[in-house]
Amino acid sequence: MPERIERLRAGEVPIYEPGLQALMERNRDRLRFTLDVREAVDAADFLYVAVGTPPTYSGDADLTAVWGVVDEIPPDVPGRPIVVMKSTVPVGTGENARARLDARGLRDVGYVSNPEFLAEGSAVADFMHPDRVVVGAFVPEDGERVAELHAGIPTEILFTDVPSAELVKLAANAFLSTRISFINEIANVCELVGADVVDVARGVGLDHRLGPHFLRAGIGFGGSCFPKDVTALKQLAGNSGYPFLLLQAVWEVNELQKRRVVQKLQKRLGSLRGRTVALLGLAFKPDTDDMREAPSRVIAYRLLAEGADVRAWDPVARPDDLHGVELCDSVLEAVRGADAAVIVTEWPELRDLVSPEIREAMAQPVLVDGRNLLDPDVAIAAGFVYEGIGRPGRATPNGELPSARPELG
Ligand code: UGA
Repeated sequence: MPERIERLRAGEVPIYEPGLQALMERNRDRLRFTLDVREAVDAADFLYVAVGTPPTYSGDADLTAVWGVVDEIPPDVPGRPIVVMKSTVPVGTGENARARLDARGLRDVGYVSNPEFLAEGSAVADFMHPDRVVVGAFVPEDGERVAELHAGIPTEILFTDVPSAELVKLAANAFLSTRISFINEIANVCELVGADVVDVARGVGLDHRLGPHFLRAGIGFGGSCFPKDVTALKQLAGNSGYPFLLLQAVWEVNELQKRRVVQKLQKRLGSLRGRTVALLGLAFKPDTDDMREAPSRVIAYRLLAEGADVRAWDPVARPDDLHGVELCDSVLEAVRGADAAVIVTEWPELRDLVSPEIREAMAQPVLVDGRNLLDPDVAIAAGFVYEGIGRPGRATPNGELPSARPELG
């Protein structure tokens, strides 16, 4: 990607990631960007591989970019550099990489699996304060050398074999995804029995064996990692003859969860044909402009399929491939004349959404809070028809569930 290297050389960070620009500026003299593999590897002790591994049509990880890098290491590379695999790869990739390197006579090039656990939006802080560093090596000395690189970072270093390190990463992401799908199902049950998932999650999370994290119910997980890694682990197990039933359910729950937004809108508005719906937030989570596997995509296209007019606002994401969706520059512009607004991403800017200005701008004050960002009582008191995720259906002052105006004529 020559243009990406050019931008990095110019000191530009090509993605939106808080703190990254400052970090790069501080270390400008120590960073070099090149398209020339020899220049990159010549004086290097460590060769980090950090390329994308998107899913293929079969659901397996596409390792084209990984092999592109490993196979480009020149056969006469000096010293004993270590290939450090940061990319999320299927179990067995290390063994394959080792065999590929050996076949090209690169027996003196080491290989270590060192999965990354950074989350987008907090990647810099996550790197500086990791919960653990996992190092899977074929040769213990190689593992030690990679571990030493983390000397300034106080954390536990877990030494494993290569397949175990590879599986730690997939299992961690699959487990976090499982927690989200679990709490989303609890939210759906809450809606049926009149409980509030926010309180339920808090009560569950106070158990020190369970902990409070990744129990926020919402419209499902997205991003370039969870959907891909749930699929990759499911396929990995399937390819070995083991049907990973739990992950199938995690996946299915997540797909249905995105679509429940449409049902919530239909409950309040009836048919969505000719209705205008404003999507507030598009990125798969706040503090990123990443639209990969964002739930907003599914919601937008489901709404368009139902005949709705869809507008969207996001403070940083400006996707050019959401065909048929009108992108707006402000929240107010997005909600003006709209029959409903949906909080899709919990951007901090949306915390103040409940205001007379927004209420008056909307044709109908239907608000679906897909991230349980707002206080339902405050929203209802301000005159909105509020639908959270897994929060009890609140009645209007006259005791009825508020429904919006009748079908458009
Ligand atoms: C995730 C993991 O958290 C990182 O540890 C991992 O390194 C990374 O994937 C990766 O494999 O590279 P990330 O995808 O950046 O990080 O974002 P998360 O904060 O984990 O959120 C993922 C999705 O889950 C988002 O759509 C978010 O809205 C959703 N989510 C998260 C919930 O719906 N509920 C929660 O309680 C937490």
